[in-house]
Amino acid sequence: MELGVNIDHIATLRNARAGVEPSVLDAAIIAQRAKASAITIHLREDRRHIKDYDLIEIKNNVKTNINLEMAATEEMQKIALENKPYSCCIVPEKRKEITTEGGLDVFSQENYMKGFIKPLRDAGIVVSLFIDPDEKQVFSAHNCNADFIELHTGAYSDAFGSEKENEEFEKLKTAAALAQNLGLKVNAGHGLNYQNVHRMREIDGIIELNIGHSIISRAVFVGLERAIEEMRDLIL
Ligand code: PXP
Repeated sequence: MELGVNIDHIATLRNARAGVEPSVLDAAIIAQRAKASAITIHLREDRRHIKDYDLIEIKNNVKTNINLEMAATEEMQKIALENKPYSCCIVPEKRKEITTEGGLDVFSQENYMKGFIKPLRDAGIVVSLFIDPDEKQVFSAHNCNADFIELHTGAYSDAFGSEKENEEFEKLKTAAALAQNLGLKVNAGHGLNYQNVHRMREIDGIIELNIGHSIISRAVFVGLERAIEEMRDLIL
């Protein structure tokens, strides 16, 4: 499996002092050096961490694929079409949430989502939908012509080590198999860490894991490059 590294928290730290350090661009360059398969950044509506200029600077200076997480809004679609990241991962977004809560409800907005995705794909951007491991969401992602789904691993991560772990894990396994049968490619992420990530290797066909919080947390102690390499070693 490949490792996409989410560097939003570098921006969170930078913004805490409204200054320039730590540099988000430097984080992207280090992630590239550590062989991340993607630099993942979430440009939120409220710009609480990643700013528009981060996307532009990374695009101009880093060769590694950019995976732009964004809400399905007109503003974000315009930014994606202007900047052409390698991929867009469409996520639900609520202003008050601490981090992305739950997957995107594609099922109840299939027509909207289909129309939202089309210009992105027409522009050559790979489109992924961040969904819960739920059969009806997988079918809907397929109906919308998404290239990828990213399975939300939050429930599994929260349940890790408890009696609910296997139940949550099986949901991921089943959803990944169904998606691949429908021709969708599968990524996964959210809440994964150095302790729980190994089980992702038991799921056939996952291409990339997107991991942020645990890598940046570990980077505080061992440095970003080593934190990424350690995670890569666990999922190779
Ligand atoms: N994937 C998606 C779609 C996300 O929204 C996030 C969090 O920004 C992640 C992966 C990474 O989650 P974590 O920071 O818990 O590793």
